[in-house]
Amino acid sequence: MMRFLSPAKINLHLRVGPLAPDGFHPLLTWMCTIGLYDTIEMTASETPEIHLTCDRPDVPVDESNLILRAARALNPTRGADISLQKKIPLGGGLGGGSSNAASALIGFNQLWNLNLSTEELTKIASHLGSDVPFFLHGPSSICTGRGQHVTPIPRPTAKQAVLFFPNLSMSTPAVYQKFDEMKLGSDAAIHHQPNWQAWSKLGAIDLLEVLINDLEPPAFSLCPELADLRTRIEQKIGQPVRMSGSGSTLFTLTDHRHDAERIATETNLASIPTDVFELAPT
Ligand code: C5P
Repeated sequence: MMRFLSPAKINLHLRVGPLAPDGFHPLLTWMCTIGLYDTIEMTASETPEIHLTCDRPDVPVDESNLILRAARALNPTRGADISLQKKIPLGGGLGGGSSNAASALIGFNQLWNLNLSTEELTKIASHLGSDVPFFLHGPSSICTGRGQHVTPIPRPTAKQAVLFFPNLSMSTPAVYQKFDEMKLGSDAAIHHQPNWQAWSKLGAIDLLEVLINDLEPPAFSLCPELADLRTRIEQKIGQPVRMSGSGSTLFTLTDHRHDAERIATETNLASIPTDVFELAPT
């Protein structure tokens, strides 16, 4: 049996270009893994079936699950028994399904002795979802195109991500559709590369000040409660708060664990589920 930890991600910075003819939006994003993990256990099977079980009943375990799609993209004739233990919230902009798919690609590659290179796995990953290639590389990378071009950069100096979990699930396609309706997105935003080396050296507050998520305006337009919540948390903790991906998870960054714990205590008092995670763990 093989066991894999499948991490969540946050988008520290997310710039989005105008809708392209392929139906996707070109991106420029800095993603980091965080120390929040699903667990995947895999065993090779004698039969050609892929049998997936999950401890959360709201996770589909049929062919729509990215783990099964990863298996079929690699080899339609091999079988395995897989058990998935979910800790990463669904619909939170934390890339849980994409991370599971990347772990599954790595796992099947080993389990079935396929000997595919990271480059070959990345090509398959990009057809499974925009965030999947990132998880083959991590822990701190710039992703461009639809997410398939991944360039590792130094990890940020900030050590902790404090995550705020609103009880809201955002639909990624709906947020992108709103983005189009609002006529947002410019080529300049995705073609101007910040000085990543300099950004990775900034302290938490200075870094937060320069980070942008172009999906915040459409997400906040679809869900004004999320915008209110962000304002309330910023007022409560006295530092900037950003949204990850298409939402709904909000985050801030700290350089020291005691700051992260103070923030978690303050927001818990405001009854917002909050947790502290290591940023870009190795
Ligand atoms: O790739 P992923 O499964 O995350 O995409 C979900 C949906 O979000 C896509 O079908 C598309 O509608 C939208 N999307 C987009 N541009 C991207 C990523 C996602 O329009 N770069």
